Amino acid sequence: MNNRNALPEDFRWGVATSSYQIEGSVAEDGRGPSIWDDFCRVPGAIDNGDTGDIACDSYRRWPQDLDLLKQLGVNSYRFSVAWPRVQPTGQGPVNTAGLDYYDRLVDDLLAAGIHPFTTLYHWDLPSALQQTGGWAARETAALFADYSALVAARLGDRVTDWATLNEPFCSAWIGHLEGRMAPGMRDLRSAVHASYHLLLGHGLAVQAVRAAAPRTPSLGIVLNLNPCEPATESAADALAAERADGHTNRWWLDPLHGRGFPTDMVELYGIELPTRPEDRDTIAAPLDFLGVNYYFRMKVAADAKVATLGFSQVPVEGAQTTALGWEVYPQGLEDTLMRLTKEYEVAALYVTENGSAWHDEPDANGYVADHERAAYLLDHVDAMANAAAQGAPMRGYFAWALMDNFEWNYGFWPRFGLAYVDYQTQARTLKLSAGTYRQLVAEHRDRASTETQRTKL
Ligand code: IFM
Repeated sequence: MNNRNALPEDFRWGVATSSYQIEGSVAEDGRGPSIWDDFCRVPGAIDNGDTGDIACDSYRRWPQDLDLLKQLGVNSYRFSVAWPRVQPTGQGPVNTAGLDYYDRLVDDLLAAGIHPFTTLYHWDLPSALQQTGGWAARETAALFADYSALVAARLGDRVTDWATLNEPFCSAWIGHLEGRMAPGMRDLRSAVHASYHLLLGHGLAVQAVRAAAPRTPSLGIVLNLNPCEPATESAADALAAERADGHTNRWWLDPLHGRGFPTDMVELYGIELPTRPEDRDTIAAPLDFLGVNYYFRMKVAADAKVATLGFSQVPVEGAQTTALGWEVYPQGLEDTLMRLTKEYEVAALYVTENGSAWHDEPDANGYVADHERAAYLLDHVDAMANAAAQGAPMRGYFAWALMDNFEWNYGFWPRFGLAYVDYQTQARTLKLSAGTYRQLVAEHRDRASTETQRTKL
C-alpha cells in the first residue's frame, strides 16, 4: 500500500534538464561563452576532457525531445534558460535570436499540453561577468535581476512557474571553495561572498520577475538538500553533522526564511559578510514555493584534515550506492520534506530534481533495462507521498533527467536519463524506467479524473 493518493489531483509530474547539460550549439545564434565553456577547457577539469559543446544537441533536436516528453505523458517540463544566449556578455540588450529559442520551446510545450517550469540560472554564467568578479561581486546580483526581468517580460505571458537559481550550494561551495566546478576557484572568502550574492541575486530577481511578468508568477528557488547524520555516537561526529547541516542546508534555508545567516556558520567561516541592512529582507522575499533537489543522505564524521569545515562525508556500510557512489536512501527525501514543512513552514513544495546514475548498457536492440533506476524512482515517489500524507504541501515532482546528459565535472559517463542517448548518433531511446514513470503518471491522472467525476455526482 502506498500513499500516492495523498498527492493533489492537479499534481505536476515532470522531468527536468538544464541548458548547458543538453543544448550544445554553444556559439549558435549569438550565444556568448559561459564559465562552463571556459572550465571545460581547463586540462583535467572534466573526466575524459568532455565538454558541453555538443552535449545532447538539444538546441537543434528540440522537436525530438518534445516527442520524448509526449511519450512519457508528463504534464510539466523543467528546463533552464541560458543567460549567455539572452545576453551574450551578461548585460545590455537582448540577443533576440537566443531568446526566440525559448519562446518557441514554451509555445511547443503549451501546444502539447505540457506546463513549462522555467529555471533562470542553472550555472552557465556569462564569461564576461566572471571577468568582473562573477558571483563574488555584488554587481552580478543586480545584473542577474536585469536578465531575469528580460526573460520574464518575454515569456511571462505564458510561463507562470519560475525558479530563480538552481542549487546555489554548487555554484558557491563546489565552484568557489572546492574548485571542482566552474569557475574552479579554491578560496573561502570568494565562496562566502558568492553564496551571499547568489542569495541576493535571487531576492532581486524575485522582485524583478514580479514586476516584469505579464501574468502573476509563481516564484521560488531550487536548493539541493541532504539530511546530515553523525557517523557515530561520538560528540565530535555530532558536532560535525551539525556543521554539515549548517553548510549544506541552513546556510540557504535560514536567510531565505528571514532568519538571517546562521551565526554558528558565520563564526566558523570567519569571513565578514558583504552585508547591507536592506539585503536581509530582499533575500527573504516571500516565495510561492521551495524546490527541493534530493539525491542522498550524508553520514558525517569529524575530520581535522578538512580546513575550516572540519567534517567529511563517510560511506554508509552495506548501503546500495549509485554509479556516483551516492547512497540510495528514500527515507531521506521524506525526512527533508517533513523538516521543511515543520521547521520552516514552507507553503508549497516541489521535488524539482530526483534521480540516479547507473552504468546503463543497451542490449542488442538498443534497449536499456534499468531496473535500479525504476526502483529508485518508485521508492522516492512513495517517500514523497508519505510526506504528503503527513501534511507536506507537495505540488509536483520532476525526475532528473529527461535524458542522459553532460554531468558537469564527470562529463558524460554517469547516465541519469529516462532516455538513453547514444552520443555518437544522438539517437534517444526511452529506457525501462521511462515506462515505469509513464505508468505512474497515468495512474495518477486516472485516479484524479475518477475523483473529479465523483465530486461532480
Ligand atoms: O546534473 C545535476 C544537475 O545539474 C543539478 N542537480 C544534480 C544533478 C545530478 O548531479
